Amino acid sequence: MALLSSPPSPSPSLPSPPLRLRHLRGLPPRPISAASASADADADADADADADHRLVVSGGGRLAGHVGVSGSKNAALAVLAGALCCSSGAAALRGVPDLSDTRTMAAVLRSLGARVEERGGGEVVVDAGDVTSVEPDSEAIGRIRAGFFVLGPLVARFGEAEVALPGGCRIGARPIDLYLRGLAALGAVIQLRHGKVRVEAANGKGLVGGQFHLDYPSVGATETLMTAASLADGVTILSNVAREPEVADLAKFLVTCGAQIEGAGTSTLVINGKKRLHGAEFTIIPDRIEAGTLMVAAAITRSCISLSPVIPGHLTSIMDKLSAAGCKIIQKGRHILEVGVLLGSKLIFLVLKIRTLRDFVALQVSALSSPNNGDLQGFYLKTLPYPGFPTDLQPQFMALLTTCNGLSVVEESVFENRMHHVKELQKLGARIRLSGSSAFIQGKRHRSSALSGCPVEAADLRGGAALVLAGMAAEGVTEISGVSHIDRGYENFEAKLLSLGANIERKVEHQQQLMTGIA
Ligand code: UD1
Repeated sequence: MALLSSPPSPSPSLPSPPLRLRHLRGLPPRPISAASASADADADADADADADHRLVVSGGGRLAGHVGVSGSKNAALAVLAGALCCSSGAAALRGVPDLSDTRTMAAVLRSLGARVEERGGGEVVVDAGDVTSVEPDSEAIGRIRAGFFVLGPLVARFGEAEVALPGGCRIGARPIDLYLRGLAALGAVIQLRHGKVRVEAANGKGLVGGQFHLDYPSVGATETLMTAASLADGVTILSNVAREPEVADLAKFLVTCGAQIEGAGTSTLVINGKKRLHGAEFTIIPDRIEAGTLMVAAAITRSCISLSPVIPGHLTSIMDKLSAAGCKIIQKGRHILEVGVLLGSKLIFLVLKIRTLRDFVALQVSALSSPNNGDLQGFYLKTLPYPGFPTDLQPQFMALLTTCNGLSVVEESVFENRMHHVKELQKLGARIRLSGSSAFIQGKRHRSSALSGCPVEAADLRGGAALVLAGMAAEGVTEISGVSHIDRGYENFEAKLLSLGANIERKVEHQQQLMTGIA
């Protein structure tokens, strides 16, 4: 798949209506052709744009085997945006998952004139040396929340930026006040007009170091302000920042590119701005949300699987909940590979022990019930900023809880409208009562499955994953529509589940009418 291929160079011989509204101060205007602005990996998406994708899951089976975890979507999106800080040399990234969200981010970067090249196997090279515009494509920004993250690097590097209001999952109001107030604290003047945010450095040159306390540890605001402060003149202190591993990964990337950032992973960041950053090689962390989803897949089907690479420290709250429910989780410090070697006419198996890189390890998750250890028990769960339980795993865990014994309570405290999956889980037979931002889940009766398959619709990314998981535990067939939401955030989701033995199939029906919707 031409996931993130280079856009064609703008050619004077092509009809190239100026697409960008403004060009950078001090740089000669270079028109970007409509072709280059839209020629992103969406070639594939376009080919499928008139198709309705459904996942058909036959439930009741068990899973077994080993599954790979992809690079973190959210870290990759932040790092791709952060690559705009690099005015010299390309950022060579590894572990970028092949997702519709990362393709959209590539389209955002290309719309600014950056070169984005996909080299296969998760390697993506971003050369932002020749950025020619400070206005990213509004349509692409409207598709993903993370598109808005480019605001920080753009205004810090060029002294101005104009970015459309962001899209993303419809799970709450998702304001941007912290982004804007934070940038104002770094010397930016902000105007909102015609659905766009226009930010300019008040001194006409660039941002200056300052202090800002976030009322709430917003992930996106922290990431945007961190990139902005990395190129501001002087020292910036950001307090009550998000401590999510993806934020720390972005800090690590920026430091590799020459930034000076202290306190990554803690509540306070001290950033000494640099005049310029340079490209560097960087590997994205494994996706803790995908890992958590796969762990729930094992639990909800009462199976035993292993997965790698993971960073166990990122999964503490997830492992705590699964262990409390009755799952057994074993950490394997080393990968063990069985390799068949053909010597002459004999096939000989060698068992190789390979040291894992850094702190990446494999986990084995077992939820096999037996007369001795009984079945999984329900529990109380409240979503919180990291290191609390991640909101991005709330729907998947709710699906699991519908199959556990007893009464469970799920409290969503991060987003005010993240319960769309409840109605669909109820269609599958789940007994869930909603009260404000809390869900009360009455587990299964007796030993039979609590769920029975039927058509359901994914309304957002993680809620969609929850429906797939529920389908795997349900009796009969569950058909999930709205799969484009799931494709935003899970690389090869059904292929990975299939490899573990799940009975899952993608049905693609081509339609005359486009099925669209903001994911
Ligand atoms: C990121 C993740 C998303 C995850 C979320 C919380 C990406 C691309 N997405 O989203 O998967 O669910 O973190 O872990 O990394 N808020 C404000 N004002 C602001 C910004 C946010 O009030 O200016 C509020 C939001 O309304 C929400 C809360 O802060 O209630 C958390 O949002 P935030 O941490 O910003 O999430 P995102 O960065 O959008």
